[in-house]
Amino acid sequence: MALEAEVHLYRLQADLSPDLDALEKLLASIEKPVKALLATHYFGIAKDFSRLKAFCVNREITLIEDCSHVLFTEHFRAAGTGSYGHFVVSSPYKFFACDDGGLLYTPEDHLLDRVKTVPATPVEELRGIKHAWERSRSARIMIGDISSIDLRLESLSACPVVPGNDEIEERSAPSALFSGALAHRESLRCSRLIVDQSSITDNMRRRRENYHRWLEAVTRISNCQTLFSDLPEHTAPYMFPLYIAHPDPHFYWLKHLGVPIWRWDEMADSNCRISQDYRLHLLHLPCHQALTSNQLEWMITALDKTLNRSSAKGFQ
Ligand SMILES: Cc1ncc(COP(=O)(O)O)c(C=O)c1O
Repeated sequence: MALEAEVHLYRLQADLSPDLDALEKLLASIEKPVKALLATHYFGIAKDFSRLKAFCVNREITLIEDCSHVLFTEHFRAAGTGSYGHFVVSSPYKFFACDDGGLLYTPEDHLLDRVKTVPATPVEELRGIKHAWERSRSARIMIGDISSIDLRLESLSACPVVPGNDEIEERSAPSALFSGALAHRESLRCSRLIVDQSSITDNMRRRRENYHRWLEAVTRISNCQTLFSDLPEHTAPYMFPLYIAHPDPHFYWLKHLGVPIWRWDEMADSNCRISQDYRLHLLHLPCHQALTSNQLEWMITALDKTLNRSSAKGFQ
């Protein structure tokens, strides 16, 4: 949108991989030449984009491999990722406690010749150090007492669910959060230092352990379904995606209990059935390397008790 290009949304399949048949039909319906296609390895689970790559090469479309959910740094690439795209983008800040840092990578160096970046100012660097320090002191999930979950759910379910204000907003310009100037700024030195000093092995091991703990727990929990029950070897999961049957009221209750969950509420409006469905039904649960065993246990118990409870008025 910043380049004033037209944006078209293509359909995804239930496993969040591109629906190539639908993509082919979509491309046939677009009059202007399509320049680029973005494909994502959601939640860090590598997808085989070899067919998609051939598809793009045949049509002279630049494939941008979105590794934003992947453990992908200047010196490390999770298996099965970063090898398809003409360009690769990643967001190390999602895996490490740094303040910023987006990576743009291409296997063909000359493609970056025209990309000019400017270093951060000393004030920005200092601010980054301050934020990293604050984060290291305050990054704690505040968990309550397991024994109080029942009581809190009792009082939550006695009150009506306050519905969110759901509306579609049309925009012809990028979001106000987008900064053209930041797009050209190099990542902070302290961000790169944090990534370089962190142990990739520990990061991956802890995330995998936490993911497996969720997997094992949800087999006993009703009203939900795992999206990826198989965690391939050498995969560092970004989060644990879980499909819930009744977001209303379960999402509302979980939020009010303080479970740190995310959803793609702000999904762009499209005709993709999966996107429409996952927007409210797919929870992203944390499997971050710094989670303690007690924190996970509290979250699992809160999820279990919440999804087992039905509202007094029944589900809508
Ligand atoms: C799938 C996906 N791609 C790209 C991005 C953007 O990454 P960044 O926050 O580094 O701009 C996000 C952000 O959450 C994302 O979820």
